[in-house]
Amino acid sequence: MTKFALLGCGRIGKMHAATISSAPGAELVAVYDPVTDAADAVGRSFGCKVAKDAAEAIEMADAVLIATSTPTHADLIEAAANAGKAVFCEKPIDLDLKRVVACRKAVSGLGVTIQIGFNRRFDPGHRALRDAVQRGELGELQQVVITSRDPHIAPRAYLQVSGGIFRDMMIHDFDLARFVLGEEPTAVFATGSALIERDLETELGDVDSAMVIMRTDSGKLVHINNSRAASYGYDQRLEAFGSKAMLISSNRSPNELRKFDGQFTDAGVPYYDFFPSRYAEAFSNGIISFIESIKNGSKPDSTFDDGEKALVLADAAVLSKKLGRFVKTSEITGAVS
Ligand SMILES: NC(=O)c1ccc[n+]([C@@H]2O[C@H](COP(=O)([O-])OP(=O)(O)OC[C@H]3O[C@@H](n4cnc5c(N)ncnc54)[C@H](O)[C@@H]3O)[C@@H](O)[C@H]2O)c1
Repeated sequence: MTKFALLGCGRIGKMHAATISSAPGAELVAVYDPVTDAADAVGRSFGCKVAKDAAEAIEMADAVLIATSTPTHADLIEAAANAGKAVFCEKPIDLDLKRVVACRKAVSGLGVTIQIGFNRRFDPGHRALRDAVQRGELGELQQVVITSRDPHIAPRAYLQVSGGIFRDMMIHDFDLARFVLGEEPTAVFATGSALIERDLETELGDVDSAMVIMRTDSGKLVHINNSRAASYGYDQRLEAFGSKAMLISSNRSPNELRKFDGQFTDAGVPYYDFFPSRYAEAFSNGIISFIESIKNGSKPDSTFDDGEKALVLADAAVLSKKLGRFVKTSEITGAVS
């Protein structure tokens, strides 16, 4: 049995508590959140210890799941890894690439399993698409197209500390692109607008609608589009186009019922409303895969390095939008190495 400590009992922490509790071979033994009401509620629901601080929770566990606010991730990764515990940390590792590099250096050589919460890698449809690409079913992969639109824009308080659309939201899509490509994008062009909340750009320097084009050294092309509000639900589509075939991993609905009447043909029920339901299976598969990596001593399917490389692409996008030109990833990595 792998004993888990959960740090952070907010929106996603509560979901992870349920996922850990239902995962075979996992036991939630402790939770910690400085907001005691949040920690107490999870402790009560799942019958585990509410620790007095993060160190006590870490001490009790074999594996630590970090679902805290982003600025705390790197410190907690270091604390858990130094205590010899396996770590599952939500994305992003940090918003500052220099802090991510310092964290990598601090934990490398400790020999602990570290997995980053890029849940989309564990979605059955997205994974089947990647596996088909790897088996060569598309012939030569030429283009990857990712659509990722949230159902509604997050509250302003969240957007103020999110790190911006590229580092907070599109980071998932940068990772998904790398996952499918099997090679690194090396040039990034980004643009964006505030179309949903018009004052977002002037007030926070952020946008709510964004498009990115990326290119690998071998010439493969990626297009990612993000919106923070889609009127019809959570829109998650992944397409791979190759010399012999095209593959699509598409949106999911709670059921496949289709309605045909005088007003509509082929009208279905709405898509899943957001990430906890759309990616429930992926979150669960991610935890199961993490436990297997700990047991087998194998490399996780979503590594610290993946977290760092996705942030490099996000930083390149931020710079590209500012400068209005393609940015090479070497311009970003060269500045921190
Ligand atoms: N993989 C995904 O799809 C996904 C989805 C949502 C959020 N996230 C990530 O998960 C993280 C949490 O997001 P959220 O939406 O749940 O935020 P949230 O604000 O709802 O919850 C964060 C919780 O962490 C607690 N916390 C802060 N510092 C702590 C510390 N030192 N120790 C223990 N707890 C601490 C806060 O009190 C809060 O309850 C963020 O990094 C976010 O980017 C990932």
